[in-house]
Amino acid sequence: MRAIVHPRFGEPTDVLNVEEVETPEPGPGQVRLRILLSPIHNHDLWTIRGTYGYKPELPARAGTEAVGVVDALGEGVEGLEVGQRVATGGTFGVWAEYVVTPAAGLIPVAEALPDEMAAQLVSMPFSAISLLHSLDLKAGDWLVQNTANGAVGRMVAQIARARGIHVLGLVRRQSAVDELAQQGISNVVSTTPATGARRPSRSSTADASSPVSTRSVARRRTTCCRCCPRTARS
Ligand SMILES: NC(=O)c1ccc[n+]([C@@H]2O[C@H](COP(=O)([O-])OP(=O)(O)OC[C@H]3O[C@@H](n4cnc5c(N)ncnc54)[C@H](OP(=O)(O)O)[C@@H]3O)[C@@H](O)[C@H]2O)c1
Repeated sequence: MRAIVHPRFGEPTDVLNVEEVETPEPGPGQVRLRILLSPIHNHDLWTIRGTYGYKPELPARAGTEAVGVVDALGEGVEGLEVGQRVATGGTFGVWAEYVVTPAAGLIPVAEALPDEMAAQLVSMPFSAISLLHSLDLKAGDWLVQNTANGAVGRMVAQIARARGIHVLGLVRRQSAVDELAQQGISNVVSTTPATGARRPSRSSTADASSPVSTRSVARRRTTCCRCCPRTARS
């Protein structure tokens, strides 16, 4: 089978190669997945560069989240069938045709869900949910977040709205304000003066007694959530 491998750490475009490797066999409690689709997350790129908290042994595979089809069952696996579509959010090395992973960590995917959504079902939504959970925000509270047009920012805004939490989003370009508006996400401000930063309407923040803020782009290292098996940058 083919897998994406890097012999050293570096820029992904410089170090990633497609290699022929042995197709793995599932052990007890494991399944083999035939990978359908996998996103490129920021943490995947940082891991390849060697600048993330988790540093794999070299030569290393890459990719952490995917949707795939169960291709073979290891001993003792119950509740999954060959041919079933499943999502995984924490299997290292999914940028490959096949991967072996613990059956217990797999999420069966409903037929109605397209591969594009199923491939991103776990890591970023879980990050958004755990962020809101850890901040312990209640209906009526305010949250200010930067990189509001990123995958996490968009999910935070939508999940928060469903919970009655107000979100003020900061982005670095006016076009992102427009993109978010098209997705139904409002209260977004561009911080780039050249593009004419807009002030949030007074009515939108006037009742915020103690707003909470989050930064996805920061200088300081922080602790990663449990969406991926490592401690790393935020
Ligand atoms: N700690 C954790 O467990 C955890 C979990 C999930 C995600 N994260 C982190 O959260 C961040 C957002 O993730 P994501 O998946 O939402 O990312 P994403 O979809 O790739 O979006 C990246 C966002 O960052 C903005 N951005 C990039 N470089 C910037 C810069 N130099 N200055 C200001 N803004 C910049 C982008 O703005 P433009 O669109 O204008 O380029 C965009 O809004 C990433 O750093 C990710 O690694 C952490």
